[in-house]
Amino acid sequence: MAQSVFDQMPKVMGHRGACGLAPENTLASIQKAADLGTKFIEIDVCLTQDNVPIIHHDMNVRRCTDGEGPVLLKSLDEIKALDAGSWFSDDFRGERIPTLQEALALISKLGLGLNLEIKPTMGWQLPTAEQVAHELIADLPENMPLLFSSFSEETLRSTSATLPDVPRGYLTEAVPLDWERRLRDTGCASLHCQKEFVTAENVAAVKAAGYKYLVYTVNNVAMAQKFLDWGVDSIITDFPDRMFAGLKLDEKAVTSA
Ligand code: G3P
Ligand code: MG
Repeated sequence: MAQSVFDQMPKVMGHRGACGLAPENTLASIQKAADLGTKFIEIDVCLTQDNVPIIHHDMNVRRCTDGEGPVLLKSLDEIKALDAGSWFSDDFRGERIPTLQEALALISKLGLGLNLEIKPTMGWQLPTAEQVAHELIADLPENMPLLFSSFSEETLRSTSATLPDVPRGYLTEAVPLDWERRLRDTGCASLHCQKEFVTAENVAAVKAAGYKYLVYTVNNVAMAQKFLDWGVDSIITDFPDRMFAGLKLDEKAVTSA
């Protein structure tokens, strides 16, 4: 059995690469995270019209490119024609939306771990989960620590069937009252909670039940330190540099399992 992904998960995880410092979910953002010393990143994956998994957060390309319209109604060629960098800064003009394959190749080359958030357009949960799994089954990068996460229970269940050995994280904003049943039913190994809804009591309960606890998106060092002191396993941040500079970390890279 391969080493658990959680044994290799650091306290600090880059959000959409390092999206405070480079345009989110691009190869430049992944590279920036690595340049800062980040060992594990989160990125979002969704599907194009021609069934290609690409790395993008929103259902519409409007916010993060020079285009307009739903990702799911665009071919890969149309997606690749978009500028995904200049909305962030002129320094990134010409940056493209990467495919999952392109992102995996870079992440693998950089030796990073990956929290792959599967973010289907609503209604397209199963095709998205199935196509992402299909690509990964065909070409699972060797030795890459890999965790799936999703807000969609349907998506989590699907990947549990297609790729049972890849652990899953249950993404939520507020913590459902029946969180334990939901984690069990979706076969999740971790709970990923929005920072506003994290409490010391809930962290203790989730950890006591044997699950890992991740929090997003924390850009304030004092808040991150508080969560880590409560026993949170990893903080997902837009600014890994701030966290490395300000947190009391035993070591930058790896948690105690
Ligand atoms: O995976 C953590 C976080 O990325 C979930 O929210 O909207 O930033 O994808 P969002
Ligand atoms: Mg995400």
